[in-house]
Amino acid sequence: MVNPSSDELQAVCRDWSSAIKGIADGEGRIAFFRTELPKLLYRRELFEGMLKGILSGHPYPNLRQETLFDNELVLYRDSGRRFSLRFYIFGPGEHTFVHDHVSWGVSASALGPIEVLRYRNEDDGTAPGQTRLRMSGRSVLRPGETETTLPLDQGIHRTGNPDDGTSLMASVYGAPLRRPFIQRFSLESGRVHRVYPPHLKKRMLVKQAVKMMAATPPN
Ligand SMILES: [Fe+2]
Repeated sequence: MVNPSSDELQAVCRDWSSAIKGIADGEGRIAFFRTELPKLLYRRELFEGMLKGILSGHPYPNLRQETLFDNELVLYRDSGRRFSLRFYIFGPGEHTFVHDHVSWGVSASALGPIEVLRYRNEDDGTAPGQTRLRMSGRSVLRPGETETTLPLDQGIHRTGNPDDGTSLMASVYGAPLRRPFIQRFSLESGRVHRVYPPHLKKRMLVKQAVKMMAATPPN
């Protein structure tokens, strides 16, 4: 099944792959994507074509690809793990939970306003699994504007749609750190949860179950 929009999107990502091989540092790659991502998003027909393709049964992007957010589509993963391109669809007023990241990211609106609420971690580390966050900034990205996110405590935020329509956000993420989970923060209770990719979470549960079975005598 042919979808020219999807083919073109992937071709742009392959060009990005070649281009960033020559940029060694994260800062340089962030600067590259702050220029390149809005240029791609300006070609709105590509994204529209890709989304229509999904509805007509085109297999790209793979909706079964596991993700940490349920509104997330993975559009491209660089084979050298240098970056990935992801797409997020927010309904009226919808936002992600408050979270951190294991890589740098560059995000921009592909349609409508995208709200970014940033938080600073002011915890002294005395209570494990608990933290104290203070809001440190808010922006609303309009098409063409970008937001840069940094890993771990430097990039705690939530993103979403402040309006009534549907907003689309595209994000490029860099190579992930070794930590296999992101953290989800509750502003109300101060609790911190680890969010693992589903396949890892299941493996951990299986390990737990096997251990319990070995330690439990049969009935
Ligand atoms: Fe994020």
